[in-house]
Amino acid sequence: MITRVKGTQDFLDLDLLTFLADTTFAQCELYQFKRIETPIIEHTELFKRSLGLQTDVVSKEMFTIKSHDQEQNPADEICLRPEATASLVRAFVENGIDQVPWKVFTYGPMFRYERPQKGRYRQFHQVSMEIIGATSQAHDVELLLMLDRLFSDKFKLVNYALHINFLGCQEDRKKYREILYAFLKKHQDELDGLCKDRMEKNIMRVFDCKNQQCQEIYNKAPKITDYLCSECAGQWQAVQNQLSLLSVNFSVEPKLVRGLDYYSKTVFEFVSPDLGAQSAFAGGGRYDQLVSHLGGRQDQPSVGAAIGVERLLLLLETVKANLPLPQAKAVRVIIPMGQAQQTLALLLADELRAQDMSVDVLLDGSFKHMMKKANKLGASHAILIGQDEQDAREVTVKNMVTGAQERIAQTALAGYFKK
Ligand code: HAM
Repeated sequence: MITRVKGTQDFLDLDLLTFLADTTFAQCELYQFKRIETPIIEHTELFKRSLGLQTDVVSKEMFTIKSHDQEQNPADEICLRPEATASLVRAFVENGIDQVPWKVFTYGPMFRYERPQKGRYRQFHQVSMEIIGATSQAHDVELLLMLDRLFSDKFKLVNYALHINFLGCQEDRKKYREILYAFLKKHQDELDGLCKDRMEKNIMRVFDCKNQQCQEIYNKAPKITDYLCSECAGQWQAVQNQLSLLSVNFSVEPKLVRGLDYYSKTVFEFVSPDLGAQSAFAGGGRYDQLVSHLGGRQDQPSVGAAIGVERLLLLLETVKANLPLPQAKAVRVIIPMGQAQQTLALLLADELRAQDMSVDVLLDGSFKHMMKKANKLGASHAILIGQDEQDAREVTVKNMVTGAQERIAQTALAGYFKK
């Protein structure tokens, strides 16, 4: 047997996933976001430049593809996208979009070579939403409001929290990195190898360490929000005030830095203890330099977020009973008693489907077997056609719930189900 690739999943029942996607898309459209699509393959350089060479995603988790173009030009490496923000910014720049804010969202698979576990896959899906050209910090607040209302009102989630932090501007981070470095230097001997390495290469990522001993040190570390310039301090305060006024609950997490290099200022994650170790089911933040970094003519301060679909799906499973999932359509089956009635069965099914009635024609096995199958399918009615019915230009309609049967004219069948 050839099995599926490690870290991927088959989705055999799409009901909840479809509800998740439709509800999320409707929410995005309510806030005037437009759905777009970008390719799943991109130049690896796009992610190296935007996420950063030292990030886990770029340094360890890329699915690169050997292409013929690369044989001609070794720099022309392509990969499966690990996230969508870089692609959406590329699309903004490459297509010369000049209407800002550009509010877009996209849905599709992402690929990261991670160690698979519950809620962590190598192929997973995101709904990614971005506001490119979003100068005011109130955009961050509106985005968080959109997500929070989606999770609480539309998906009826209760056991989750919004964590936020503020990473300041480039100058703030430069200053803070030095302050953090001086602090960590004093505790160097107590840090593990990975943290010592991060301290030199990408110092703020030390906070993502899983080691308890390191975390105890980081709990006492200086907080970036205590070292913001006056403009950033004002913006940080405004974000918190507006969230409170809009009744969006949040907790400030000084150690939240997020694993991608493009972030500045507001960063956030929605987390739930119901998910176990992989607790974040959405995350995002502001990225004020990425557009110019990817060749845009001018800086476009921007903000965005991505929902991890598989993780949100795990949460929806727990509250499924409270969700307004669409009712399954009534199923009707047509059962021709013999081969001689099969053509008539197909003709009648064609007529019903032309009127948007969903019908299944059962063609194999004995009558008893077909009736069992009709029950298994949850059919509301079975339409039985024997030689007798065929000769009389009629059918027998059996109500599968009550067991009641009646003969009706073939020409009256669609009207019978409509009433
Ligand atoms: P991210 O935090 O890397 O951010 O991913 C967003 C969400 O995708 C995570 O919170 C998680 O739910 C889900 N996710 C990530 N990796 C996996 C995985 N291996 N398996 C299952 N789910 C996963 C971004 O990707 C940014 N592009 C978000 C953003 C948009 N920032 C600004 N705009």
